[in-house]
Amino acid sequence: MSLSEKPIGIFDSGIGGLTVLKEIIKELPAENTVYLGDTARVPYGIRSPETVGKYSIENSDFLMSKGIKVLVVACNTSSSISLLSLKKNLSVPVVGVVEPGARAAVARSRTKKIAVIGTETTIKSDSYKKAIQSADSTAEVTGIACPLFVPLVEEGWLEGDVVTLTAEKYLAGVKDLGVDTIVLGCTHYPMIKDVIADVVKIPLIDSAVETAKEVHNVLRENKILRNNGGEPSREFFVTDSPEKFAETGKIFLGRAISNISKITVGA
Ligand code: DGL
Repeated sequence: MSLSEKPIGIFDSGIGGLTVLKEIIKELPAENTVYLGDTARVPYGIRSPETVGKYSIENSDFLMSKGIKVLVVACNTSSSISLLSLKKNLSVPVVGVVEPGARAAVARSRTKKIAVIGTETTIKSDSYKKAIQSADSTAEVTGIACPLFVPLVEEGWLEGDVVTLTAEKYLAGVKDLGVDTIVLGCTHYPMIKDVIADVVKIPLIDSAVETAKEVHNVLRENKILRNNGGEPSREFFVTDSPEKFAETGKIFLGRAISNISKITVGA
């Protein structure tokens, strides 16, 4: 099989990374894709860097065994903790979600006061802060962990009082910071971006959209864009509950999901 025919590999802690896959399909509709959701071990956002690092290596090893041509680390928590070591150790290009989101935020912001919202582990890692400040050392970055957003979205609560009140509780103070750009630094947050936008009234950067553009650039630069007109293949692997993945995942992906296999990764 030629390199360009090989699939793009994408992993996430669970279903959230489907928001990234959705943007990749929009940006690169002809590409074959293989997605791994580590649904048995989600959430990653409350786990230690050591544990997230171990899971990220195991997920990457599984996707490498599928013969992928590029790896996309769709999980913001994994990208925050593991991107550098995956880039160093894998023989294919690796794209994370942090840098594309950070670069887009710097390009958009006029005040260079930027807020990033994400899981506890992502915010504690300062990954976005470092990426934003390496693009512009004068930028002021405030990180806000919003841990309840993930279970709300997982539950399918994408609007209504509870989500709005939760967003208000986390984000009411953001207006006083002079921030003019907020980065959605978690796979799940694009699903509630209208609620967040209503509460903060500040432009949002969707890391998923920016990451899809970055994947396109990487394939173009490496001359491995698929140019075969045939129908692309879509494979899905999960470490638990394929039925739940199919049911909730279709809301994330915006289309029905078939071809899901349950597998085990790691020891
Ligand atoms: N995928 C995770 C992220 O983007 C959110 C869910 C989790 O905590 O595992 O950070």
